[in-house]
Amino acid sequence: MAVPRIQSRPLVVVGAGAIARQIRSLIAGLAGDPYRILGYLDLPRSPRPSGCVPILGGDEVLAGTDAGYVIAVGKPLVRRQVDLSATRWGRQPVTLRHPDATLDDDVTLGAGTIAFPGARIQVDARLGRHVLVNANAVVGHDCDIHDHVVLSPLAMLGGGVVIEAAAFIGAGAVVLPRRVIGAGATVGAGAVVTADVPPRACVAGVPARDINAI
Ligand SMILES: CC(C)(COP(=O)(O)OP(=O)(O)OC[C@H]1O[C@@H](n2cnc3c(N)ncnc32)[C@H](O)[C@@H]1OP(=O)(O)O)[C@@H](O)C(=O)NCCC(=O)NCCS
Repeated sequence: MAVPRIQSRPLVVVGAGAIARQIRSLIAGLAGDPYRILGYLDLPRSPRPSGCVPILGGDEVLAGTDAGYVIAVGKPLVRRQVDLSATRWGRQPVTLRHPDATLDDDVTLGAGTIAFPGARIQVDARLGRHVLVNANAVVGHDCDIHDHVVLSPLAMLGGGVVIEAAAFIGAGAVVLPRRVIGAGATVGAGAVVTADVPPRACVAGVPARDINAI
């Protein structure tokens, strides 16, 4: 009897910079070849193409393909914009988890969320759509991470932290337990966040202060 051939799901990567290369590497390391990258989309104002080929065009390509997609852009507002367009066109995102990312029990990952190598997501954490958890970032137990948030490498969120939509957490930043980072806020690299951060604020330093006050 012929063994049925399992087809790899075709996938378009939105973005063609370093994050796209990280995603290419992640997918290459997945057992069983679940995805086949058709190509990459080059967005205005996103990082220059970096050896990711073929470039299929801009994000309008998503309107005319049945392939799954994943967003390879580090700017939360761009992630949100691509998600809005892709949803309008009826496209389905793919959720990616590197084999070396650790997820505890009862973690939920929204559609399109990506966990890079070494990411550690602790028990009962909830992550929304198209969240990017970069290498070695830690999401503490019971965290609530809203849509389109970007966590840079080595970011560390204590238990019960809330990160509202489209906020950006810089490399190595620490957010103390139960603090709330407002929607669209930016936390600078290496910051230690000891108090709630208002929406759209930009904080940095130890303890983190509004960047304009530094
Ligand atoms: C916080 C941040 C967003 C500010 O960027 P910016 O608005 O362009 O700010 P500037 O570079 O003009 O710096 C403004 C002031 O803040 C200081 N500053 C900037 N980033 C800082 C940081 N992370 N910690 C402490 N101070 C910082 C600068 O020294 C400068 O101080 P000065 O006016 O006394 O010289 C940015 O510096 C940052 O940390 N981004 C995160 C980068 C990152 O982690 N990327 C992920 C890589 S994968």
